[in-house]
Amino acid sequence: MRRADRPAHASAPAYAALQIALHWVSASLLCGLFALGFYMTGLAKGAPGKAVLVNLHKSLGLTAALVIAWRVVVRVSRAAPPSIPGLYCWETELARITHRLLYMCMVVMPVSGYLGSSFNPYGTRFWGVPLPRWGWVDSALQHMFYTVHSTTADLLLCLVVLHVAGVIKHQWVDARRCVQRMLPGQRTRAL
Ligand code: HEM
Ligand code: HEM
Repeated sequence: MRRADRPAHASAPAYAALQIALHWVSASLLCGLFALGFYMTGLAKGAPGKAVLVNLHKSLGLTAALVIAWRVVVRVSRAAPPSIPGLYCWETELARITHRLLYMCMVVMPVSGYLGSSFNPYGTRFWGVPLPRWGWVDSALQHMFYTVHSTTADLLLCLVVLHVAGVIKHQWVDARRCVQRMLPGQRTRAL
């Protein structure tokens, strides 16, 4: 059943400017990290340049972690705008669950990467600066955290596909102003 409280033609309020900026910065960083992560793990052990790429991935991943942490704080302190009017209840609920799972995966990714790197002999450098290790050299724990990292990456990828498919459906099949909610300069911005 469609929501009866708000008609389909009602205006859909947009996210706040900071939420929009954090959404697009974190999404861009995640896309780069996915490309780099899958590419570097496909290289043979000891391949020329692999260590540089892994270090770049770790620094970029930790940079993304800071942006994601900021995003979570902003999200907790400032609610999302009311859902898009005129959708079926199950669509609103599916979007809510997908957003929640996206946030969970965004947090698990850098934490599992950093923990995995804390239990290997190389440790982690953040743009050249050595960071404290949260563990000792233990290949079983390293393997466990990297398995969490790689499985969460697959889940996050599926969620992003579902998320983008939902946006495309609401925007072009249902003809709702969905993408505009995540674009700057919209008049019906949530305060
Ligand atoms: C949001 C942040 C991150 C994303 C989206 C991400 C994504 C990925 C992806 C897609 C892979 C390839 C997985 C596979 O196919 O096995 C990967 C591997 C890896 N990531 Fe990340 N990563 C993130 C953060 C980090 C951080 C912060 C670190 C460490 C400080 C890290 C360290 C690694 C390492 C060492 C590997 C190779 C693991 C292996 O050899 O199995 N990542 N990452
Ligand atoms: C790595 C990629 C992405 C991630 C992790 C991601 C994550 C999220 C999350 C967690 C939300 C909910 C925001 C909140 O309520 O606080 C959201 C909303 C949104 N995203 Fe993304 N997103 C990604 C890519 C995209 C792309 C490529 C598009 C464009 C098609 C997009 C368009 C939107 C829109 C329009 C909303 C608002 C949805 C609504 O009004 O309910 N996102 N995104």
